[in-house]
Amino acid sequence: MKIKEQENNLMEKIVSLCKRRGFVFPGSEIYGGLAGTWDYGHLGNELLHNIKQSWWNKFVATREDIYGIRAAILMNTKVWDASGHVAGFADPLENGEKFNTMFKTQVGAKKEEIITSYLRPETAQGIFVNFKNTVDAFHPKLPFGIAQIGKAFRNEIAPRDFLFRQREFDQMEIEYFVRSTDWEKYFKYWKDEMLEWIEEIGLDMKKIHDVEVAEDDRAHYSQRTVDFEFEYPFGQKELFGLAYRGDFDLKNHKLNYSDPDTQELFVPHVIEPTFGVDRAVLALLLSAYAEDELGGEKRTYLKLKPALAPVKVAVFPLLRNKPELVKKAREIYTNLKQEIPSIIFDDNGNIGKRYRRQDEIGTPFCVTVDFDTIKDDTVTVRDRDTGTQERVKAGELAEFIKNKLV
Ligand code: GAP
Repeated sequence: MKIKEQENNLMEKIVSLCKRRGFVFPGSEIYGGLAGTWDYGHLGNELLHNIKQSWWNKFVATREDIYGIRAAILMNTKVWDASGHVAGFADPLENGEKFNTMFKTQVGAKKEEIITSYLRPETAQGIFVNFKNTVDAFHPKLPFGIAQIGKAFRNEIAPRDFLFRQREFDQMEIEYFVRSTDWEKYFKYWKDEMLEWIEEIGLDMKKIHDVEVAEDDRAHYSQRTVDFEFEYPFGQKELFGLAYRGDFDLKNHKLNYSDPDTQELFVPHVIEPTFGVDRAVLALLLSAYAEDELGGEKRTYLKLKPALAPVKVAVFPLLRNKPELVKKAREIYTNLKQEIPSIIFDDNGNIGKRYRRQDEIGTPFCVTVDFDTIKDDTVTVRDRDTGTQERVKAGELAEFIKNKLV
């Protein structure tokens, strides 16, 4: 099969797996859908949540120089005038006319009180408008950052390629404030930090490329941009981005910073690492998808890092019609669930089918309760990637699995 055909097949396989197994569904499907919208099912939502949690832990919770916020999606229209989005956030239409991709909406009920607003096209502006509040509340010294995870909306002219180009998506953004003379140092620092996280979550590093964006292709606020691109089956395209926004935003919002030691008043410059969560989900699924042969049977599995997998452990009784096995398996499942979240119990079909089902959704460990369990209180723990099984004492199971959930 030609490479192109194989890659198209891969996209089809991912989209189909996502629908069938409850990761991602087409938006508003029972009414014929709405282009550019996708809904996450239980497993996709868990994966999305795990990605956000990994990001927040690395860039906010474990650092002292980054403050998290959750700003309102609707903002005063003046924000979007000052940020340059009303004038400049536009894509060219086929006939060369420009089209502003912000979704316009109305706020207020009484005719005379109605004002125009927009659904935010980037989470960044919610950060900039809270710059002064954050400085006044926490008195941070430069360099420091403000981070936000949240929805962004763009009326994309041509939404396409599954989760890649949507009209509503999640962003994870940091605005990192530095002295103007330090921008190059922190640009390099953030490039390395981004790459480190990209590797940590298990993206296929062979498919990641950092690309310098030419001046003509940069956003209106950026003086330098490096995109992290991923080799998707539909081409090498942007995954995440890193921009040097200079003093563009703070200056336009008429904000400044007073050095707490010297009282020097100036406008900090901004380095912005930005990450699209949905593109991370898509690139992770594409990196993790694998097919092989195990025990003479073909199988599909998702080689997700255990820490990101939507389900961590599945517990089974070897046979569903043996009450002593079912009772013991239920007991082990209930105990394990107290210590490790995202665990499921499954006694449908035969054991082989249960393994295949868990492989397909990327569950790293399957625990089986068999007749030996009744005798010696040990269970088998099966590893998703190799299919190998180990006997572990039931009392040590939680510790055994916790050590592997990294
Ligand atoms: N604040 C900077 C900013 O918004 P951007 O490159 O326009 O920069 C940031 O968007 C990230 O958001 C992108 O790197 C991408 O991961 C994600 N993204 C942008 N448009 C998207 C869309 N239509 N669908 C899904 N993700 C999108």
